Amino acid sequence: MSEIRTITVVGAGQMGSGIAQVAAVAGFDVALVDVAPGQLERAVAVIQGSLTKLVDRGAVERDVADAAQTRIRTKAKPVPADLLIEAATEDAELKLRIFQELEAVAEEHSILASNTSSIPITRLAAATSRPERVVGMHFFNPVPLMKLVEVIRGLETSDGTAEAVSAAAERMGKTVAEARDYPGFISNRILVPMINEAAYALMEGVGDRDAIDTVMKLGMNHPMGPLQLADLIGLDTCLAIMEVLHQGLGDSKYRPCPLLRSYVDAGRLGRKSGRGFYDYSG
Ligand code: CAA
Repeated sequence: MSEIRTITVVGAGQMGSGIAQVAAVAGFDVALVDVAPGQLERAVAVIQGSLTKLVDRGAVERDVADAAQTRIRTKAKPVPADLLIEAATEDAELKLRIFQELEAVAEEHSILASNTSSIPITRLAAATSRPERVVGMHFFNPVPLMKLVEVIRGLETSDGTAEAVSAAAERMGKTVAEARDYPGFISNRILVPMINEAAYALMEGVGDRDAIDTVMKLGMNHPMGPLQLADLIGLDTCLAIMEVLHQGLGDSKYRPCPLLRSYVDAGRLGRKSGRGFYDYSG
């Protein structure tokens, strides 16, 4: 596999825009794709805001940030690239559809990656005719600050594919950890059950919201409490991951907390909807 130079990112939400940003800062030519023009406009503004903060903190040089912004093109439809990364909502049907669209524009050598947090890479790969060039490339929120990329090989992923995306992630300043293609991989097999347990502790009145987050922040030195973190990730995403763990591993210890489900039913999805466990309207 030759070196990756161009990257197409599909989905301009918080993860897709973050991936486009770190890729452009690393010198890749990036196409950021979304069907919703408003979402692309928001993503460009978010990237600009994030780069301004990083320049102010001295974490990125101003000329690097300026050049990065010129390297990101926004598009309504996927365009060919060496690496095409899907970063859409955590919905298996949607991701499978996008994977078929990506394969239609991909070149022979192109790699298709998914930023999925829990959907099996092998299933996405099977929707294409190039399963050896399909891989999981899982970034963490907020992408410009978090140092990890979890690389997940599907059953047929070739060594060359895993090596090429690991090299690209390292060029973006990330450290790579490899995980096998089991439900939730490493990260969400461990993280999201903890968040789900925090929701149970709240539902059962073991502690109130602030006590639960304070215990985990000050007692365990977590940078955010689990309920704050759930709001950052999105409660709908947390619920979707618990469903994948419950179904994929078949163990009742992964049953989603009913309180988490009711918040999602009520549209309380966390920061992105203005309210989750916390209220962000102010
Ligand atoms: N771009 C650039 N700068 C940013 C930023 C962004 N997107 N977001 C925050 N910052 C800046 C802030 O402006 C702030 O800058 P100053 O110090 O100059 O004010 C700095 O980063 C630190 O931010 P804060 O002071 O607000 O807060 P903090 O020190 O607690 O750091 C944090 C913020 C890095 C998010 C930290 O709280 C943290 O690590 N939280 C845990 C995040 C986490 O666990 N993420 C993984 C979620 S799981 C996931 O994403 C995958 C999945 O599949 C579900």
